[in-house]
Amino acid sequence: MMHHRIDAYGASYRGFATDVYAQVRSRTYGDDLGQTGWMNADEHDLFLSWLDLDHDSRLLEVACGSGGALLRTAKLTGCEAQGIDIHEDAIRAARAMADNEGLADRVTFDVTDAGNQLPYPDNSFSAIICIDAINHLPDRAERLRDWARILRPGGRIVFTDPIVLTGPVSNDEIAVRSSIAYFLFVPPDFDDRLLLDSGFRVLEKIDRSENNERIARSWREAREGLEAELREIEGDETYDGSQRILEVAERLASERRLSRFAYCAEIQ
Ligand SMILES: C[S@@+](CC[C@H](N)C(=O)[O-])C[C@H]1O[C@@H](n2cnc3c(N)ncnc32)[C@H](O)[C@@H]1O
Repeated sequence: MMHHRIDAYGASYRGFATDVYAQVRSRTYGDDLGQTGWMNADEHDLFLSWLDLDHDSRLLEVACGSGGALLRTAKLTGCEAQGIDIHEDAIRAARAMADNEGLADRVTFDVTDAGNQLPYPDNSFSAIICIDAINHLPDRAERLRDWARILRPGGRIVFTDPIVLTGPVSNDEIAVRSSIAYFLFVPPDFDDRLLLDSGFRVLEKIDRSENNERIARSWREAREGLEAELREIEGDETYDGSQRILEVAERLASERRLSRFAYCAEIQ
């Protein structure tokens, strides 16, 4: 069965500031950080503890979506930050939030395709974070080498890879799960090997599939509770396609056939 591209990100980013999508986020995550992946506030706190940021740090968030987590990071740590995402509506929402929160002088957002070499000089950042998005970037070895280039000595990266194949997955499940955008499905330990080859030492690696399972379920249920409003805004194809993606994401994560790992690594 063929599956059309589902514009799930576009729908949530265009509607980001509206009441309906704010309700979806708060019912999904509990704490609405303005996120669109599988991270909640507790997990964000854990990742921040790995990065050890302060007023002297300069952080890059790759595929920051609508920027809520990056603004929270800047508020909590005092760091300077740059967020990039390919989605114009996401960056528009992020800039509006930075303005509202009086953080626009310290946190900037740009539309950038992170599948290419990034437009920063060597040694630009003390840390890089990328949550639930590395699977959308082609040529991961090249991306990691480029991230190593723009990091300062001793710099750290934190990323989650939610698309690690740890069990059998059918062609139809792969088609549904990847109907949002470009997707890279990788074998276990693939990321560990690439990190090592790109000059990183792995400091932390933990299985966070449970967040994927739990959040996919609460997200699908939250959207179901607002079905009439969402169908009106998104149209039936995007609504049904998004629900199908969330249902398959939950099933694959709960059966640990697709796993989500979080990594922290440091330049050697
Ligand atoms: C699952 S969302 C996660 C967003 C955010 N990190 C969060 O946790 O809320 C994946 C993000 O990757 C972005 N993305 C996909 N391909 C990209 C690319 N080539 N360059 C930059 N961002 C990309 C999407 O626009 C989307 O915002």
